Amino acid sequence: MKIFLDTANLEQIRQANALGAIEGVTTNPSLLAKEKGDWRKTVRQICKEIDGPVSVEVIATESPAMLAEARDLVKIAPNVVVKVPVTLEGLKTIKELHLRGIETNATLVFSANQALLAAKAGATFVSPFIGRLDDIGHDGMQLVQDLVSIFRNYELPTQVLAASIRSASHFSQAALLGADAITIPLSVLLDLTKHPLTDIGLAKFLSDWAKK
Ligand code: G3P
Repeated sequence: MKIFLDTANLEQIRQANALGAIEGVTTNPSLLAKEKGDWRKTVRQICKEIDGPVSVEVIATESPAMLAEARDLVKIAPNVVVKVPVTLEGLKTIKELHLRGIETNATLVFSANQALLAAKAGATFVSPFIGRLDDIGHDGMQLVQDLVSIFRNYELPTQVLAASIRSASHFSQAALLGADAITIPLSVLLDLTKHPLTDIGLAKFLSDWAKK
């Protein structure tokens, strides 16, 4: 499972990158809006910091304008992946970008049907939003399981990118289910390192050593 960081904050990216686990970044308009300064400059800096894919979302809602934005986004850096919401206009856009060899991340995916259509249109990644489904009383992780099965059934090359991740438990469940990739906030990444027995064990080793 590839691990991406879900942020547009450079400091967080540097902190996560130092741990050696991060293979890409996903941003969205809400995350980029939180960062000060010119968003293009921020995206360029993120793309320099990270070797892997950096998802940047289009803002337009009509396909011709989405395509124009996408063409602009991919000029920023070669590792930009164009994030496109799965609407009718979004699907048209994904198809056109696929024909032009531009990688896409189909976002705001809340059903298997949306994901299957995005895969047929040629999306590189589909992003099921786990936490937001859980928030409304659905089982977000069930969607990951469904997408992994469906894509395997039909040998579709589109990768399942588990998104809207809120906990370390989401992370391990997505890995067990065979998600191709996951995007997590820094807080979840830091939680993954924690175990009380590690802390207790280390304290014991150090106190025993101090008695030598
Ligand atoms: O980047 C998309 C997704 O991961 C958003 O997560 O926490 O805003 O539902 P969240």
